[in-house]
Amino acid sequence: MKAVESLIGEHQLIARLADALELYARQTKQGRPTDATHLALFAAAFSDFAECIHHEKEENILLPMLSRHGVRWDDGALPAVRREHRQETYLIDVLRQAGERAACWSNEDRRQIVAAAQALVDFQRNHHALESRELFPLVAARLGAGVRIAKSAWRCEASAMSDEVVPIDTHPDTLETKRKEQP
Ligand SMILES: [Fe+2]
Ligand SMILES: [Fe+2]
Repeated sequence: MKAVESLIGEHQLIARLADALELYARQTKQGRPTDATHLALFAAAFSDFAECIHHEKEENILLPMLSRHGVRWDDGALPAVRREHRQETYLIDVLRQAGERAACWSNEDRRQIVAAAQALVDFQRNHHALESRELFPLVAARLGAGVRIAKSAWRCEASAMSDEVVPIDTHPDTLETKRKEQP
């Protein structure tokens, strides 16, 4: 399904971001001179793309749609994914705070930054593994045979979305969204 392919494509982009952050953390750990301002840029990139775009799709579109097609909201994959999204928000926040005191790092600062960065990297890899293993197969199982239902449901889903996000394409096989342009 194109919807899953789209989400997997975003996972690949987030994974490359995680690889870059891991390299940054490794260089910081080795004491090599790293640009401290890049830490805030990493936090902003994870927040803007992984949180505000990718997880918005999962939380506001995919999970409610699966729930309406019989997947338990309060047990199994759906609450696990929602719980991990809360954890990701926390980990990005920790990274952002580390970036805010970027002027001159002590050895303890460096240790904390490396730990925060590696925690976010490890989290992303485990989170994507969870979704590939437990969430995406549900899309094919519950929605694959019901595309006509999904098509009609899509407009309802889209109209129920938050004011912050609007659909680019109302076809249910694409979960492409964009932020509503600010006036
Ligand atoms: Fe997710
Ligand atoms: Fe995801």
